[in-house]
Amino acid sequence: MARNFFTVMRSSAPSSTAARPSTSSTATAPPPPNMKEAAAAGVGVHLDPSLEAVRHDLTEDIEMALELRDVSVFYGTFQAVDKISLPIPKNRVTALIGPSGCGKSTLLRCLNRMNDLIPGARVEGDIRFENRNLIDPTVDAVEVRRRIGMVFQKPNPFPKSIYENVAFGARINGYSGDMDRLVEDALRRAALWDEVKDELDKSGLALSGGQQQRLCIARAIAVQPEIILMDEPASALDPVATLKIEDLMRELAEHYTIVVVTHNMQQAGRVSDYTAFLLAGEERVGRLVEFGPTQEIFTNPLDQRTEDYITGRYG
Ligand SMILES: Nc1ncnc2c1ncn2[C@@H]1O[C@H](COP(=O)(O)OP(=O)(O)O)[C@@H](O)[C@H]1O
Ligand SMILES: [Mg+2]
Repeated sequence: MARNFFTVMRSSAPSSTAARPSTSSTATAPPPPNMKEAAAAGVGVHLDPSLEAVRHDLTEDIEMALELRDVSVFYGTFQAVDKISLPIPKNRVTALIGPSGCGKSTLLRCLNRMNDLIPGARVEGDIRFENRNLIDPTVDAVEVRRRIGMVFQKPNPFPKSIYENVAFGARINGYSGDMDRLVEDALRRAALWDEVKDELDKSGLALSGGQQQRLCIARAIAVQPEIILMDEPASALDPVATLKIEDLMRELAEHYTIVVVTHNMQQAGRVSDYTAFLLAGEERVGRLVEFGPTQEIFTNPLDQRTEDYITGRYG
């Protein structure tokens, strides 16, 4: 079923957008010359709203954790994201990439109803999560956020002990099992246990930046989510701590679905299985340009704008 959605989306894309603009004259139609020129100049590319995003075929038969259809987001009268449709494969890492301001964080926040907390923000469309549209107001946002956790750019541990940071969410959710075990398990999964097991009473704020971020990941894991959203989780960290977070993302994908926003191309290439490339045009509305297996997006992008971005032509 999930595969069908994907195939349908793909086959409904106009062939002109699915075709890779070629330097030689082939049968495939290139995009309008003005768009190509603008893309080459790397500035203010106008995205034609009537052009559908390119979606590569999936190379594996896989269940979807989420399916976004025509998701639009508004802040008051400003539209930040326009009709984005893409699948989020289960137990895989999906990267959202694109220049600053194209709506990556906005889209990510939709996936666990965090935009509910921003006054004036409005989300339209369908985010399928087990046969329900999770943006429907009748769906309990608190439950959604328990099952779909979030890790932010800047590590934000509570001013509490390491132990209490991890136990916090589980306590709030009324967890009645063995808390010591839960804390240890979450810290192990977040690859932090060995570093903190003898000082669980120490303040979470006393840890290094990289450790704090892994503590936040442990805190997210402790409420037993199915999906973990990460918004540039390593961008405030040094290179060594960054690699640890990247390794951890790969490990976590064995048990969880991960959606990660990154503006670091190498990172997207290293950690993700699937990549969605978003871009905002002159009117600053973010749209999906291309989605597919990361390998395909990086080695065989079908849209000129994707190629320009991954080769570093946009800021
Ligand atoms: N809380 C907000 N209120 C109004 N506009 C916002 C808000 N958050 C983001 N925006 C706007 O929405 C667009 C997308 O922002 P964002 O999702 O943060 O982009 P990205 O994460 O890709 O850098 C930008 O034009 C930004 O200025
Ligand atoms: Mg952002």
